[in-house]
Amino acid sequence: MSRKDYSFDTRTIHVGEEAEFFEGSKNEVVAPIYLSSTYARKEVKNPGFFQYSRSQNPTRFALEKRYASLEKTTYGLGFASGLAAEATILFALLKPGDHIIGFDDLYGGTKRLFHQWEANYGITISLVDATQPLQIREAIRPETKLIWLESPSNPLLKVCDIKAITQLAHMHDLLVLVDNTFLSPYFQNPAVLGADIVVHSITKYIAGHSDVIGGAIMLNDKTLYEKLKFCQNSLGVVPSPFDCYLVLRGLKTLSLRMEKHQSNAMAIATYLENHPKVAKVYYPGLKSHPQYEIGLRQASGFGGMISFEIKGGEKEAVQFLESLELFTLAESLGGVESLIEHPGLMTHSSITARERELAGIKDSLIRVSIGVEDKADLISDLEQAFSKTNL
Ligand SMILES: Cc1ncc(COP(=O)(O)O)c(C=O)c1O
Repeated sequence: MSRKDYSFDTRTIHVGEEAEFFEGSKNEVVAPIYLSSTYARKEVKNPGFFQYSRSQNPTRFALEKRYASLEKTTYGLGFASGLAAEATILFALLKPGDHIIGFDDLYGGTKRLFHQWEANYGITISLVDATQPLQIREAIRPETKLIWLESPSNPLLKVCDIKAITQLAHMHDLLVLVDNTFLSPYFQNPAVLGADIVVHSITKYIAGHSDVIGGAIMLNDKTLYEKLKFCQNSLGVVPSPFDCYLVLRGLKTLSLRMEKHQSNAMAIATYLENHPKVAKVYYPGLKSHPQYEIGLRQASGFGGMISFEIKGGEKEAVQFLESLELFTLAESLGGVESLIEHPGLMTHSSITARERELAGIKDSLIRVSIGVEDKADLISDLEQAFSKTNL
């Protein structure tokens, strides 16, 4: 069996860290952290592969190789954050006058970035409900270049049909980008479904331990890759060698973590769905989820993210959140520890109240990143916080 045939679990551990890959290697099992910012050349006119660490670094090179392998793409690129990866895509691929169609439910920081691009660089954006491909078709204009999706989306866990949207987009020569942060490559490979560009906030499940900020782009097209690689270097938005090492390390347990995130999330979503103080639960693994069947078809799992509306409004949501003892009240997601937050006041506060209302993000909405702790401990913490919430 050749290396590219190894299964996902094997590739998360080995790809990029093959000892023979590192020059001067003493057969280390773990990739060294190469801190040098520059590389000596033997001849003036012969720079060698590694010249300056912003352009390429051996630890990052190992990680980028693994990124591509996990998303089953030809190329992978590492970035200093998910937003650095996103900004690089806008910078590299769009010009004034271009139009983007975006999912109306996207991470708030992505929408904030879109608004800055609209205000400063003459790009226009239409946000539509991508669970309805007809809305995408109607939004296509002669100047449309890119369709920007998350599936499941943040924070309402909406699922869109990546294959159907990609087929539609390609009929109109449009690129499709999928932010795959919520499922990780363990559960879903958007490029295999036809997407042209896959983006990750590495900060989340891929790094997995809430101790790295990072981003990635994975893709197959050589011309697009070269444009993005050029901008990765010219903007300088690269991750540090130490962060690359942490991600290489965190990735080794991705499969184990994702399975436990998901089994805990399934138990907690079911608990919440039956709770008298809960008005609505959003989890793609529940049969009540409107796109349950699409999720089942295009991904091998539903992930560890849940959102729910508590009965009452902002006051009750805040009281509940501040009563939790084991869940950490914090932004971000995808770490081994369970995190909980109020999208309207935290992750999605950078967009206007009107935009949140249009996207269906209510003041009673709570978003949970289910960790890998014992699920009985998590449920008992939720229960004690519900009991302290006056309704
Ligand atoms: C779905 C999604 N995409 C992108 C980002 C941005 O990533 P980062 O915080 O690593 O810049 C986030 C951050 O929360 C996110 O949730």
